[in-house]
Amino acid sequence: MIKIGVPKETKPFERRVCMTPEIIKQLNNKDLEFLIEKDAGKLSYYYDNKYTQVEAKIEENTQALYQNSDVIIKVNAPSSTEISWMKKGSTLICLAFPTINTEIVLSAEKAEINLIALESIPRISRAQKMDILSSQANLAGYKAVLIGAAELGKVFPMLMTAAGTIKPANVVIMGAGVAGLQAIATAKRLGAIVHVSDVRPETKEQVESLGAKFIEVNVDEKVSTEGGYVKNLSPEYLAKQKEIISKFVAQADLVITTALIPGKKAPVLITIEMLENMKPGSVIVDMAVEQGGNCEKSKVNEKVEYNGVTIIGESNLPSLAALNASDLFAKNIQALILHLLKDNVFNIDETDEITKGCLLIKNGNPIHPSLKLNQTT
Ligand code: NAI
Repeated sequence: MIKIGVPKETKPFERRVCMTPEIIKQLNNKDLEFLIEKDAGKLSYYYDNKYTQVEAKIEENTQALYQNSDVIIKVNAPSSTEISWMKKGSTLICLAFPTINTEIVLSAEKAEINLIALESIPRISRAQKMDILSSQANLAGYKAVLIGAAELGKVFPMLMTAAGTIKPANVVIMGAGVAGLQAIATAKRLGAIVHVSDVRPETKEQVESLGAKFIEVNVDEKVSTEGGYVKNLSPEYLAKQKEIISKFVAQADLVITTALIPGKKAPVLITIEMLENMKPGSVIVDMAVEQGGNCEKSKVNEKVEYNGVTIIGESNLPSLAALNASDLFAKNIQALILHLLKDNVFNIDETDEITKGCLLIKNGNPIHPSLKLNQTT
């Protein structure tokens, strides 16, 4: 019997839980036992009695939960103390982000555990059902539009009233990846006119299929990609892009920025100069705020006012849709557990492409190439 522990999230403003009663029920035919920390699902409206109804056990003592589990699953990384409570050879599965959370690597090495980083699950078709970054970014793109719309002193759709006609809102979206595409769809559903910029040419068709307009940057440069991600962009390309998008940004009521280059600081797309040309009352939601931000003035978890423009840097948008976010998170974790389970044993096989992509530490040894790179630099 493999014991899977689900601690309560402790990060401020985190409402999600990584395992739901529904998924535990679906896994009941496996040799698994779930230990859920008291109130772990409360902020997602999954109360303890829902877990006990599907045969999970409620544990009140956090330390005992860590000590008695073979596998710990969590949304955010546990603290060093919590990791020190884990059994030697047990496995921790969570969003680890070791480049910003360096402590997790040292603690996992010391505790001699396995560490699987959910953000590193490869973006390949076979792993799509485990892709937590995508499931959460989708909801985040939706919420970004809603919080932007709520902040705006305008409505989105064109309204013809006896008192006059209201023009539709202009929305500009930077980056048409997972979050951006959902933001486009949401803004269109609400009736806005949407313009979109992305550097991967293949996104043009996707943007247009959602009824938005693609902003062309005609530079004679092939944008290199790897695994669906942009690898790098020349300063010339970025300068040209800025020149073109600044005209659209100046006319925008709401700008949503989602531009990301993995492993790098987010590209600055909205400069102070561009902010100074924006309309008073306009709003920016900078989704890339935790990676340094796409807007020069955004701050993590703050609402900044600059020249009449409100810049929102909410870093945990999925948590604002905690119920759906927890459901999708748990579904992704279920797929990962089933992938790792072989003959009712948790099999950490580093020759498997998916496991290799996200296994940072095996039995206390850092084995992921990204960690080795960090050690030599
Ligand atoms: P993604 O990788 O699917 O999409 C990023 C897009 O940005 C890609 O289409 C890429 O081509 C594009 N891009 C790169 N450089 C660009 C540039 N200079 N101009 C325009 N587009 C550019 O990533 P995903 O999953 O959509 O996430 C987007 C961002 O949102 C990430 O920074 C992610 O960390 C963040 N995020 C934030 C959340 C929050 O709560 N604030 C929640 C989820 C994601």
